[in-house]
Amino acid sequence: MCGIVGIVSDEVKTADIIDSLKKLEYRGYDSSGIAFVRGGKIEVYKSVGKIEVLKNSIKDLLEKKIEVGIAHTRWATHGQPNDVNAHPHTDCTGKIAVVHNGIIENFRELRSMLEALGHKFKSDTDTEVIAHLIEEEYSGDLFDAVMKAIRKLDGAYAIGVIHSNHPDIIIAARKGSPLVIGLRDDMSILASDVTPIIRYTKDVIFLEDGDVAFLKKGRVEVYRANGEKIDRKVQHIDWDELAAEKGGYDHFMMKEIMEEPMVISSAITGRVKAGKVDIPEVREIDFSKIRRINLVACGTSYHAALFFKYFVEFHTDLDVLVEVSSEFRYRKPHVDKDTLTIAISQSGETADTLESIRLAKRLGSSIITITNVVGSTITRESDVSIMMNSGPEIGVAATKTYVAQLTVLLLLGLEIIQQRGFWAGRHEKIFDTLLRLPEVFSSILDFSDKIKEIAKEFKGYDHFMYIGRGYGYPTALEGALKLKEISYIHAEGYPAGELKHGPIALLDENFPVFAIVPQDSLYQKMRSNVMECKARNAKIIALTTSENSDISSIADIILEVPRVPEELYPLVMSPIIQLFAYHVAVLKGHDPDKPRNLAKSVTVE
Ligand code: F6R
Repeated sequence: MCGIVGIVSDEVKTADIIDSLKKLEYRGYDSSGIAFVRGGKIEVYKSVGKIEVLKNSIKDLLEKKIEVGIAHTRWATHGQPNDVNAHPHTDCTGKIAVVHNGIIENFRELRSMLEALGHKFKSDTDTEVIAHLIEEEYSGDLFDAVMKAIRKLDGAYAIGVIHSNHPDIIIAARKGSPLVIGLRDDMSILASDVTPIIRYTKDVIFLEDGDVAFLKKGRVEVYRANGEKIDRKVQHIDWDELAAEKGGYDHFMMKEIMEEPMVISSAITGRVKAGKVDIPEVREIDFSKIRRINLVACGTSYHAALFFKYFVEFHTDLDVLVEVSSEFRYRKPHVDKDTLTIAISQSGETADTLESIRLAKRLGSSIITITNVVGSTITRESDVSIMMNSGPEIGVAATKTYVAQLTVLLLLGLEIIQQRGFWAGRHEKIFDTLLRLPEVFSSILDFSDKIKEIAKEFKGYDHFMYIGRGYGYPTALEGALKLKEISYIHAEGYPAGELKHGPIALLDENFPVFAIVPQDSLYQKMRSNVMECKARNAKIIALTTSENSDISSIADIILEVPRVPEELYPLVMSPIIQLFAYHVAVLKGHDPDKPRNLAKSVTVE
């Protein structure tokens, strides 16, 4: 995820800004840049690659004093990772510099409007419109210009702005992306999180959505977008740097699970227009002409693909085939120009998925990729790439990226349903609930402590059976994968109806069952399967919907999620299966961020 820093002080040097930026490296990035005011002028330096490259390029400037500076690590969303697209971005006069984290949804419209007014753009980014908008609104008061400019922005942003006419201030604004301000008598410091701040001060203000802040040396004022001044509480934090990187959590995996509400919002941002799904990346694709969809993916991404099959087949007339990439690439698949191939890969580098799309392409299929990494190899070989926009995932086990995949797949599925003429009231409901899911997720994540208590009770078992049917089946597979990969407990994921064809022989009091049993259209079938497990003395954890007293009389442990349309259970249930695996792994003394034998990006067969 992009990172922002900014410092205003009489005693700041270029090296201080660069060193602060380095504290954000852990968030992942593809390029970096710095802008500062020196001698009444803005200077900007940017480089693709590591911050060290940027630092080397300005070696002679590092010990020079500056008046105010901002810097940025970029994780590309709009435009390739390169020097030009790296932040900070400037206006036509070169007097304004902006760093930005987030996505400006209406940047195309704003860019056309600004170009018509004569503004010249240098980059492909959404961010550059902010610099030109501020230029357009500026008449001597930077704060006022930023206020007016942000009123025109749709989407999510955290921004830091400097102007060569005002070398003693930074203006910051937040909507949807985090920003923190550190306070000290002789300086003010701005950053995306507290990591760069704590070596200067432990007194911080966490800006809230809709806040605009005015930073001077030793003075910070916060306003609401309507101009009203507001007192934000100064909080004293006691974290060290490592704790700060993890947002105060013990592990990245936990931090990333807790980011899921934000991840859903980011995946939706820019893909809804006038109350309908509108994914700009697929506007050129005519889904009404497709005869069949073919999905290729591995591991967790495969489970997301399986969900999509259930969703699209159920709601349209299309056949959707799903296959793990390592099998697909060695088969003789029946794919042709009427087949759309969708590759799902958070890393965009998985060797088997890459080879699968190459094969599908040779057979005439067009390729859509859903990934989290702009410019990754798979995106370069696909016709269209839809970004998950989750920010880098540091924990090896996929958590927030699974949630982002499901969100994007739901949107894509709804787009296909729309285009093929199957849209009905049910889809309206799914869509409306999807837009509300960030809130729903926040309430589910509050159950982490309860899940930890359950994990204590179950951490001693050597085996686990996860079962589900319909939309619950991909959740069962993913639950089992999460548990086995980080806790090293043997776990199987099965379609519940298959139990009696073999695996039920395993069950006894030492082999607990984690049943995915929402009150959906297959509830009664699942209930019978749970009864079968119970009859073999297996302990039952039932993941169900709230206030389901029916299953609570059968299961030993109940975990609940709110009632939503059944197509959304795979999404709302994901944090529960992830938290369960997380707590079991940690209680067993394993590091969930670095499971043995696994890599984040599987670039070999
Ligand atoms: C499990 C996990 C893996 C990946 C798989 C595919 O937590 O992370 O199973 O899902 O290696 O990776 P991508 O999505 O990068 O293609």
